Amino acid sequence: MNLDATHPLSSGLTSDSRLVRAYQGTRPDVTPVWFMRQAGRSLPEYRELRVGTRMLDACLDPEMASEITLQPVRRHGVDAGILFSDIVVPLKLVGVEVEIVAGKGPVLAQAVRTAADVERLTALDPAVLDTALAPISQAVARTVAELGSTPLIGFAGAPFTLAAYIVEGGPSKDHIHARTLMHSDPDAWAALMAWTADVTGRFLRAQVLAGASAAQLFDSWAGALSLDDYTRFVAPASTAAIGHVRDLTFVETVGDLAADPESVRRNVPVVHFGVGTGELLKAMHGIGADVVGVDYRVPLDEASRRLGGVVPVQGNLDPALLNAPWPVLEAHVLDVLERGRTAPSHVLNLGHGVPPETNPDVLTRVVNFVHETSATPSLA
Ligand code: CP3
Repeated sequence: MNLDATHPLSSGLTSDSRLVRAYQGTRPDVTPVWFMRQAGRSLPEYRELRVGTRMLDACLDPEMASEITLQPVRRHGVDAGILFSDIVVPLKLVGVEVEIVAGKGPVLAQAVRTAADVERLTALDPAVLDTALAPISQAVARTVAELGSTPLIGFAGAPFTLAAYIVEGGPSKDHIHARTLMHSDPDAWAALMAWTADVTGRFLRAQVLAGASAAQLFDSWAGALSLDDYTRFVAPASTAAIGHVRDLTFVETVGDLAADPESVRRNVPVVHFGVGTGELLKAMHGIGADVVGVDYRVPLDEASRRLGGVVPVQGNLDPALLNAPWPVLEAHVLDVLERGRTAPSHVLNLGHGVPPETNPDVLTRVVNFVHETSATPSLA
């Protein structure tokens, strides 16, 4: 399905941005940069705005969600916004009792542990999301109207990461109940994953239809899985989840516009990211993603090698170094940029989210440094 002519990708507002170009596998003038969790507690303006509003209520208030999304773009000059929301928002909207507990994460009223639990959960109809997601679509529309030529990234949780919260009932270290369920009752697991893929896929699609120029699927906890478990029990559902945006296209006119312009049909770029997923990188690309997000544990040149040298990569500063003396951080940024040159294209990011205690001025300095440094042809 072609995106509406007013969509920022179709209208040409964001299709030639550094971010979209890099996600498509070409190297823009400078390396684009944004940060996972760039919106949030590291910013005093965020903490001020959030006083008295619960996390999920903030996500469902289009004006507040939009303002929080724009804060880091204004402050840091990053090359993309990412919608302020949460991976459990579509669960709440479909009728799951879930809250986000500060300092902890998503907590469900009831863990889903048995086949009967899965049956009760999957009786909730994902189609209700098509209307329930209206506040999210409104937040996206408001945000892209302000962002202009800076692209907005939409995101969703991958089915496994969501299922990890659903089965555990809250955050956990090793996701042991979820990993037991996939082996002990593969049918219940498959039903849970198919339902979750539908729910999270609709959330992602709504954001792209409303104006997001790229989509990122977060499988944050996939690193807990063996490659075999990932391939058998998780990858098919992740493919199904991004299937909700894989059919969305836009037409771009390229070449010499006066002489011989050519119309090219392109897909909305999809990024796939997880933590501790060094052994899964190829499989995570294989679900149908365009770009692979790499955490800080595997150097980008090695990650690119594992991906066959043909996949755009995103990452992978170690968030811990944001709090190190500048010369240490600067050397780390240079190293990541240099290694990123071995991939077809590179979007600089962190290996995981911005730690809440980060000094925001350091993030701004990293953005400026990346833009200045990567504009030179060689760093050597
Ligand atoms: O990157 C961004 O700036 C966009 C915003 C974003 C949030 N959550 C806002 C948020 C994104 C992309 C997410 C995704 C998300 N949520 C993931 C995948 C990404 C990742 O970090 O691995 C996961 C696993 C969740 C679940 C979740 N929600 C956790 C673990 C937490 C942190 C709990 C805490 O207080 O430490 C949340 C809450 C949350 N989501 C906050 C923000 C800004 C903090 C809420 C607050 O301000 O109190």
